[in-house]
Amino acid sequence: MATSNVRRFGAALLVGLGVVNAQNSQLKIDTDDNIRKSAALLAADTMAFYSGDQPGQTPGILPGPPPAGDYYWWQAGALWGTLMDYWFLTGDSTYNEVVMQAMMFQVGEGKDYQPRNVTASLGNDDQAFWGMSAMLAAELNFPNPPSDQPQWLALAQAVFNTQAAPERHDETCGGGLRWQIPLSNNGYDYKNTIANGCFFNMGARLARYTGNDTYSNWAEETWDWIQGVGYITDEWNVYDGGHIGHNCTDINKAQFSYNAAILIQGASFMWNITESQKWKDRINSLLDRTIEVFFRDDGVAYEVSCEPKYSCTTDMYSFKGYVHRWLAQSSQVAPFIAEKVMPLLRSSTEACVKQCTGGDNGRECGFAWSSGVFDGKIGAGQEMSALAAVSGLLTDLSKGPVTAETGGTSKGDPNAGSTNVLERDHRPITTGDKAGAGILTALILAAATGTFGWMSWER
Ligand SMILES: *[C@@H]1O[C@H](CO)[C@@H](O)[C@H](O)[C@H]1NC(C)=O
Ligand SMILES: *[C@@H]1O[C@H](CO)[C@@H](O)[C@H](O)[C@H]1NC(C)=O
Ligand SMILES: *[C@@H]1O[C@H](CO)[C@@H](O)[C@H](O)[C@H]1NC(C)=O
Ligand SMILES: *[C@@H]1O[C@H](CO)[C@@H](O)[C@H](O)[C@H]1NC(C)=O
Repeated sequence: MATSNVRRFGAALLVGLGVVNAQNSQLKIDTDDNIRKSAALLAADTMAFYSGDQPGQTPGILPGPPPAGDYYWWQAGALWGTLMDYWFLTGDSTYNEVVMQAMMFQVGEGKDYQPRNVTASLGNDDQAFWGMSAMLAAELNFPNPPSDQPQWLALAQAVFNTQAAPERHDETCGGGLRWQIPLSNNGYDYKNTIANGCFFNMGARLARYTGNDTYSNWAEETWDWIQGVGYITDEWNVYDGGHIGHNCTDINKAQFSYNAAILIQGASFMWNITESQKWKDRINSLLDRTIEVFFRDDGVAYEVSCEPKYSCTTDMYSFKGYVHRWLAQSSQVAPFIAEKVMPLLRSSTEACVKQCTGGDNGRECGFAWSSGVFDGKIGAGQEMSALAAVSGLLTDLSKGPVTAETGGTSKGDPNAGSTNVLERDHRPITTGDKAGAGILTALILAAATGTFGWMSWER
């Protein structure tokens, strides 16, 4: 595609003009203009990890999944949302066509972000990351897809509906979604915060956009379940999940920043709809604890469950970006937290750009933001997180997410996506499936020998 060549040439030209210095960051964020310039560089460097728009490649996905490449399917879904935010906050539409192509190519046979290629390993959270990007497109009034293609709001509703369907819910642990969708998957017996947090988040946002309280009722119920089962503690720590074999009481206490942030964002939308003290208190408590755990004393994002041990996975390298994006948007729908959130996001971003001195161009970002020094490892997650942080500094200059009543133009379909993917998919078993199943069997055996700890590191 011609645009990608222009884009790459543009990025190369900027490197050529700049002085590449291994010690000082090229990314300045002191003025709005410099923020836009730095965000443009970060967007180009993030997109350098993507080749799906080139001939012979698969649109929409980052290289992967392992072992074919580093990235799982869901992370690309998050990437497109990050680039929608980038467009909205900076006004730069360079990537809009690529985003549109990617989001449309991966909708899947049921137009509900469960494409056949990934259903064998699909988690509710994986599907939801694409659904949340479709929701964001509706909220930002991102250009609508051509009228013969599925529309943003309908896609978000489709994802929500498939997850609200009876076959995704059962009585184990008193309710809640499982992590994985296919029952043969390791992780099908795990009910976790991210799967339920994503469902809660989409419910709250669909309720606000459409005004339909079916969605907010689900959101209320899902929050109550997450809290009731003890994944949100009395001290407002947010834990990862538990297994149905233990009625979800064997809680994995690992704390990941995106779990807390997705709840804060959903709660902020619930507050925006209700303006109730209940949601205000929940937001304030969760936010204060989130700052203590993940921004510590220096006001810089820190992934506490993996950074100290240098054990962060490719997935985790993208978490800081979600925290920045979701907190920034929360501050628009729940403005009473803006005074606390925006200075925090600025101090965190200042530390982030300081360590963006790596890679061939001397400005790639690592993950050790609070160290101030590039940690030697580049990747789509690290770069996308920095892009999210830098563009997010322009949040105050933009208006908040729209609704159907306040300028939103995306068309919905309340009945979208209700087909059961497992029943729909009747294709013959291929060699690829067999290889996948072999890997799953190995994982199940490994799990059966005693350690379930690996599970939290998968996501
Ligand atoms: C599924 O995988 C095949 C083989 O790699 C590819 O040709 C096709 O475009 C993929 N479909 C989607 C929706 O990614
Ligand atoms: C299982 O957990 C749910 C949710 O915490 C609880 O309501 C239910 O009483 C528990 N069941 C048993 C048998 O302990
Ligand atoms: C709800 O969110 C919108 C969009 O950001 C904002 O304009 C509005 O003021 C918020 N409502 C309240 C009560 O703060
Ligand atoms: C509200 O959403 C539910 C769930 O998708 C749907 O069944 C119902 O028809 C919707 N109501 C309206 C008025 O659109």
